[in-house]
Amino acid sequence: MKDCHNIEDLRRLAERRLPRIFFDYVDGGSNSELTRAANESDFARWRLRQHVLRDVSGRDLSTSFLGAGHALPLMLGPLGFLGMCGRRGEVAAARAAGRAGVPSCISAFAIRPIDEVTRENPDVTIYSQLYVLQDRALTEVLIARAEAAGAKALFLTVDTAVTPARERDVRNGFRNLTRPTLRQWANMLSRPSWCRDVIRDGMPEVGHARAAGFGRGVMEQAGNLARQIDPALTWADVDWLRRRWPGKLVIKGILEPEDARRAVDAGADGIVVSNHGGRQLDGASSTIMALPAIAEAVGAGLDVLVDGGFRRGWHIALALALGASAVSIGRPYAWGLAAGGEAGVARAIALLAGELDSTLALMGLRSVAALRAAGRSAVHFN
Ligand code: FNR
Repeated sequence: MKDCHNIEDLRRLAERRLPRIFFDYVDGGSNSELTRAANESDFARWRLRQHVLRDVSGRDLSTSFLGAGHALPLMLGPLGFLGMCGRRGEVAAARAAGRAGVPSCISAFAIRPIDEVTRENPDVTIYSQLYVLQDRALTEVLIARAEAAGAKALFLTVDTAVTPARERDVRNGFRNLTRPTLRQWANMLSRPSWCRDVIRDGMPEVGHARAAGFGRGVMEQAGNLARQIDPALTWADVDWLRRRWPGKLVIKGILEPEDARRAVDAGADGIVVSNHGGRQLDGASSTIMALPAIAEAVGAGLDVLVDGGFRRGWHIALALALGASAVSIGRPYAWGLAAGGEAGVARAIALLAGELDSTLALMGLRSVAALRAAGRSAVHFN
């Protein structure tokens, strides 16, 4: 890991460490992966303004979102199967997040259950991600578990009415891993350090699904849970959840100003401008292009978080200038975890923080607060 000087270096190391099936699962998007690619490439459609001779000593990257102060305008987003990228992945990632002073959100498809993550990281801000299931009683059980575990916010993911083909996964037979083929076994066994790490604590399971009695083995559980995600969901269900959940409520998967305004009306505390990392609607807008109109539409009505394709500190600075309160990352920390466990996640966060710090200084800004106050005037469309 000593040769990893940016997020792309971590990605390349993760590619060497992970079996192809899991590397592709993390890396891939849906269908032609156009939106996944646009998330990364559309940052280049913008430019930052450079200002000089403005005393930028004593910089401060801290900020606040979702009702609390954090060391950076950054959080770790929810990633299903994170525990397949590194030993006790959800616990290790949360620990690294805590050391860096940022929150970590635990996926509904996490391998390690959320109460284990919070128990082992009592001082870390942990959020819980939820899918509303067709079985509302079971959904209530999941909400109660998040509450009992001490999750500070519930992230309701709403961009998964159906799951489109993730063609790399289809080709690799990702969903059939319950009974691996000879080729899949060979692929996994070609990464002995991964096998040792990930299977050391017993065969992996999806924590939530195990609790719900959703079959045995990680893939069977995930399949049963995924089939339960309710495609009939509407804003009325958000109202129900708002009444049910006392903590902060965040709607994840907003790409249109109209939907963002509905989220304000529904009493949400925040939204995540997200296209699920380009894994859902292929052909949808990149998030950095969708962000400005959404931030304008909601004003200060709620916290606007954004995710998708953030690989550089300057990407984060751009999002803050365009009205985001904070940025959520996905793949960068999964690659970090695969590359070097907890230290790898810490490296991913530190690389982004370091780049953000130098970006601010060279823009002539001393703090995240100053950047947010400067807003659109700090950047221009190229
Ligand atoms: C995800 N994402 C996701 N989102 C969610 O709400 N629940 C989930 O279980 C998952 N699982 C998941 C797995 C993997 C491997 C990836 C890459 C993504 C979406 C995720 O939270 C986030 O929106 C994107 O990852 C952001 O894009 P980047 O940072 O990965 O480019």
